[in-house]
Parts: sequence; C-alpha cells; structure tokens
Amino acid sequence: MKRIGVLTSGGDAPGMNAAIRAVVRTALCSGMSVVGIEHGYQGILDRHFREMQMRSVSDIVQRGGTILRTARCMDFHKPECQDAAIANMRAEGIEGLIVIGGDGSFRGAKALSDKGFPTVGIPGTIDNDLAYTDYTIGFHTACNTCLEAIDRIRDTSSSHDRITIVEVMGRHCGDIALYTGIAGGAELIIIPEVPLTFSEIKKSLIEASQKGKTSGIVLLAEGVCGADELMRFLQRETNLSVRATVLGHQQRGGSPSMRDRLLGTQFGYYAVGLLKKDIGNRVIGISKERVVDYDISEALAMPYKFKKDLYRMAGVVSQ
Ligand code: ADP
Ligand code: F6P
Repeated sequence: MKRIGVLTSGGDAPGMNAAIRAVVRTALCSGMSVVGIEHGYQGILDRHFREMQMRSVSDIVQRGGTILRTARCMDFHKPECQDAAIANMRAEGIEGLIVIGGDGSFRGAKALSDKGFPTVGIPGTIDNDLAYTDYTIGFHTACNTCLEAIDRIRDTSSSHDRITIVEVMGRHCGDIALYTGIAGGAELIIIPEVPLTFSEIKKSLIEASQKGKTSGIVLLAEGVCGADELMRFLQRETNLSVRATVLGHQQRGGSPSMRDRLLGTQFGYYAVGLLKKDIGNRVIGISKERVVDYDISEALAMPYKFKKDLYRMAGVVSQ
C-alpha cells in the first residue's frame, strides 16, 4: 500500500491524538502517504480529506479530543453509502483505512472490509467495552478524571455525614465504575454486570451505616439507572442524607494519561504495520501487555469478560 486514510469515529477519547500521530509518522517513515479524514465516516461521504505531513501532528500527543474531529453518521449503516465511501476513497487514491473508535465504528470498518476495502480498527473509547482487548484508549484517563472528582466529593460527603451517588459513563459496561470505585474507595459499586435491586442497595447502605460508616460514595454506572432516580428512592425510603452527582462529559476530555498516550502510540504504529503488509479486516488490542490483532468479526463476537474477581475484592475492602 502506498496511501492510507485515518479517521476517528464515535465518542472521542483521550489518547486518540497520540494514535493519529503514530499512524501519520509511522506511515510517512515507511514511504506511504496519509490522508486525514475529518468527522468520521461522514467525512468520507463529504470528502473532508486533509493531506497529513510530519508537522501536521506536532504538539498533539498531550491533547485530549481528536484533531480530526469525530461524528456519529447514521447514513453509514446504508450499503449504498458504504459503496459511495469506497468510491470517494479510491478516487483520492486511498488504498486502506485506519478507524479509531469503538464497537460501532468497527462495524462500519467491517462493512468496508466485507466490500473489499482493507480496514484496521484501533480501539478508542473511554468505555473499555471491547471484550477482545484488556484496555481501550481513553479508559485510563477517564478513570483518573473520575477519581479526582470522587476525592473532592468525598470531602464534602464526609463533612455532611452524607451518601453521594456518583454516576459515571460507560454505556452498557461497568468498567469505569468498577475501577474508579475500587481506586476511590467507594462504599458500593453498582454496575450493569451485577444487577442489584433498589431494596438491595438500600439494605447495603443501611448496613454500612449500622457498622459505623457516617458517609459514603456510591459509584453508579450509567447503564444501570439515573443517579437522580436512585437518590429519590433512598431519600424516600431511608433516613440517610443522600445527594447525586452526574460527572458527564468531563470524563471524555482532558490531557491523556501516560498509559493512554503509550497505548495510542503502540496501536497506531502496529496498525500501519498491518496495512503496509496489505493485511486488513483486523482490529488491534492489548493482551497481557502485548499488542495483538484479531479478525474484526471474531473480535466483535467475543463475549464481554466481567471482572468478577475485582468486583468481589471491592466488596471486601469497602467494609
Ligand atoms: P462507537 O464507535 O464509539 O461505538 P457508535 O456506536 O456511535 O460509536 O458508532 C460510531 C459510528 O460508526 C456510527 O455513527 C456509524 O457511522 C458507524 N456504525 C455503527 N454501527 C454501524 C454498522 N452496523 N454498520 C455501519 N456503520 C456503523
Ligand atoms: O461511548 C462513549 C460515551 O461517552 C458513553 O460512555 C456515553 O454513554 C456516550 O458516549 C455519550 O454520548 P454523547 O457524546 O452522544 O453524549
């Protein structure tokens, strides 16, 4: 391959810029030219193509967001739009595409690969919801952002002898809640993988209070319910003082952590290596600290691995 494209798609994630930088510089160093495609799949349809040079990616490794912008493009579900996208890329001389995004973006990449256009996916999402990889780009930074917020919230919660429910993102995946709940010393972690009823939550908080806890943090994954709904239930059903905070989109922004910069760089470097060898229809991940790649369909079909041991440990150390 002599010319490749790169785009970011779906929700942005800190570390995407590190991946773009690695893709551009690795490709240029291997004698390939690179087209940056703006606004995800929409940008292929609208021909938002930008020629990337070494200096196009200067001063971005430390920045959150994505310099290529991102988008959710509903039209891309339509086969005729996928055909049009391939025609637009071929007209630009692009022979292979690197897609940085989550599982939805990978489905788009698979559609292109199935139609004979080589694609490689790099997992970029704060949700960490892709079963085939230990981590996705952005997850580590998002967890650190949540932790900073939780530490602050704990100061005020303990001063008021209060329970604060902190709702975090993650779509249907509880990893952000689980990891930050453990690291932030949450009294209770509520995630979609372990369905607790509101009565069980109430019971657990009353027990904690009877054991001498005067305040607490409840880490709630957004995939379970809204923090307000749970707060209203607990205010109605108990004598506890309860407040709710939704951390929201601050979790997606900010300067990427060392880990996400490194991961983005490793994934970008590796992705170009595959396209250079004309290998497509793959997604890249990390397993036991080693960069790995899988067939897109196989990777998407892998069942989510719930971290049961971490959840069990959290229950013990929060006593
Ligand atoms: P993420 O990639 O973070 O999971 P989305 O699920 O919003 O985010 O997907 C991002 C984009 O990927 C969608 O807006 C759409 O353009 C494309 N996409 C998602 N699913 C498909 C699909 N089944 N076929 C083709 N394109 C898809
Ligand atoms: O996939 C990343 C994510 O931030 C999810 O955690 C969240 O559910 C969703 O995107 C929010 O999307 P939007 O950008 O449309 O608010």
